[in-house]
Amino acid sequence: MEEKKFKRILVTTALPYANGPVHIGHLAGVYVPADIYVRYQRLKGRDVLHIGGSDEHGVPITLKARKEGVTPQDIVDRYHAIIKKSFEEFGISFDIYSRTTSEIHCKTASDFFRKLYDKGVFIEKTSEQYYDEEAQQFLADRYITGTCPHCKNERAYGDQCEACGTSLNATDLINPKSAISGSTPVLRETKHWYLPLDRYENFLKEWILEGHKEWKPNVYGQCKSWLDLGLQPRAVSRDLDWGVPVPVEGAEGKVLYVWFDAPIGYISNTKELRPDDWEKYWKDPETKLVHFIGKDNIVFHCIVFPAMLKAEGSYILPENVPANEFLNLEGDKISTSRNWAVWLHEYLEDFPGKQDVLRYVLTANAPETKDNDFTWKDFQARNNNELVAILGNFINRSMVLTHKYFDGKVPACGELTDYDRATLKEFSDVKERVENCIENYRFREALKEAMNLARIGNKYLADTEPWKIAKSDMPRVATILNLSLQIAANLSIAFEPFLPFTAKKIRAMLGLATVEWDMLGRIDILPENTQLAEPILLFEKIDDSVVEAQIKKLNDTKAANEKAAHKAEPVAPTIEFDDFLKLDIRVGTVLECQKVPKADKLLQFKIDDGLGGRTIISGIAKHYKPEDLVGKQVCFIANLAPRKLKGIESQGMILSAEDADGRLVVITPDTPVAGGSCVK
Ligand code: MF3
Ligand code: ZN
Repeated sequence: MEEKKFKRILVTTALPYANGPVHIGHLAGVYVPADIYVRYQRLKGRDVLHIGGSDEHGVPITLKARKEGVTPQDIVDRYHAIIKKSFEEFGISFDIYSRTTSEIHCKTASDFFRKLYDKGVFIEKTSEQYYDEEAQQFLADRYITGTCPHCKNERAYGDQCEACGTSLNATDLINPKSAISGSTPVLRETKHWYLPLDRYENFLKEWILEGHKEWKPNVYGQCKSWLDLGLQPRAVSRDLDWGVPVPVEGAEGKVLYVWFDAPIGYISNTKELRPDDWEKYWKDPETKLVHFIGKDNIVFHCIVFPAMLKAEGSYILPENVPANEFLNLEGDKISTSRNWAVWLHEYLEDFPGKQDVLRYVLTANAPETKDNDFTWKDFQARNNNELVAILGNFINRSMVLTHKYFDGKVPACGELTDYDRATLKEFSDVKERVENCIENYRFREALKEAMNLARIGNKYLADTEPWKIAKSDMPRVATILNLSLQIAANLSIAFEPFLPFTAKKIRAMLGLATVEWDMLGRIDILPENTQLAEPILLFEKIDDSVVEAQIKKLNDTKAANEKAAHKAEPVAPTIEFDDFLKLDIRVGTVLECQKVPKADKLLQFKIDDGLGGRTIISGIAKHYKPEDLVGKQVCFIANLAPRKLKGIESQGMILSAEDADGRLVVITPDTPVAGGSCVK
């Protein structure tokens, strides 16, 4: 950090919607990187605040409440508690984790709107919007479905057709339906307030495109493409009964758009935490403001919120917005609705006490520059081959050997050999390297550097083999173990931002009370004769069976989803009973069955129909082996006009059922019947 430029740091993390629990994608993309950053800054002794909270407004919360027959407040109370607990359990060190339904937030957001309103910032505009008369509410674009005017997909949304990718206005949809009640919505006039983003375009271009070329390429690139397209005014109010009321006369039934009030939550929560001096964090240019978010939030944090802050006039703007890409799970996009996720509360049930393992894997594999994949195999491999085999192993050996040879007291460091010096040299710049990476939001690389220190330690013990000289040269053993323990102390500092639970355990074993970042690289951290505690194991191997159970759990979810998604085809037009009677359906026994040459779909049957037998050709060769069908009974249409297939006359048609995957199975009577029996 440019210490001279900034006196303090204000870190915010995206406020998660309180309409569901949090999963590994949230942790990997936002909260773990932010936590690494703030823990590091605290260790550096800097004035840093980490502000978080739940985002408790917006339409999806009201829909979930409606679906469950409870109030939106019930929903957010439930999930706020779950989310907050998950973050605590994973050691995400917030200075405050509050919520946007708090009184202080509602007032702060309301006042903010009012200030812009009084300054004449907003445009007031009346437009026609869809209204659901049954549910008695205006409909957000996402909650209107209908036929896409371009590709005729019948399940297009009011903002976009996912089949052809066109972005739509709700009024473009043919045959619109409300997703809430299923009824046909009607157009109604309604007034809203718009933030004229177009008026801030030049300022934003200058500030981002000229002033922040150092932002991550994914962030800068997204901003550039928005700015190149040109900005439009955006409505900042909604017709809804859940949210912060619009503080203007005649605005009954209208609330602030959730994306207007939520980022103000960062301000409200800072106020709640520091009622007396919150302003210095938000208004003093010597504060470095950093927003940690996922990529779907970039436009709001880089364009909309800065425009709001600029319009208000007294606030600083973010110095950086290190947004991450997405984390996938076993090759598929994480999805709450499809339950394709590893939920944090479930992880802890299955892996109690293993928070740091997940933090490690998510950081080592963080989606910093591109989407990345979380797989259970990788989770297992990183645990077993890195945490257990390198970090855990090194600390454990250093501890155990010290107990064995020196009664658990830090032995004296004697004269250093050339090899010792070479080892020390190898990690003399680890502090600088880790720092550099963290300051520049490259957490994967930072973790690699920290892990490298453990590798150096591991190699040092393996090469010097103190257990082999214990009889002959105790002073040398003392030096080796002293240095090893100093490296262990270094590890407890270097890993504190990444693996706080583990770092704390290491410190407890070493009898190290407080540490600071700037001790890193020193080899006199542990004074001679310090009494060490008993060694405990930091990590344990994860067996194949354990990860296989997790993979099975996901596969079961997938199967359940596919089943749930399967809907039978619509029923064909109605026919009269007489039409049905025209069909002569019978049961016959398969006497012979063989492939039709040069036709990969066709099978030729000889059927006992009680009338001397007949030949039928059927297109089920992909689904059965001919020999498996011989002796089976099948149903066939006996009075279908004969037709020739590949030169063979087919005298009827065998009936099969087809499932959603196109699999065909023949229809067989429950109990064998005489060949030629009629089906009625
Ligand atoms: N709730 C939003 C999401 O999960 C993030 C809100 S961030 C804030 O995508 F800036 F609005 F707070
Ligand atoms: Zn379409």
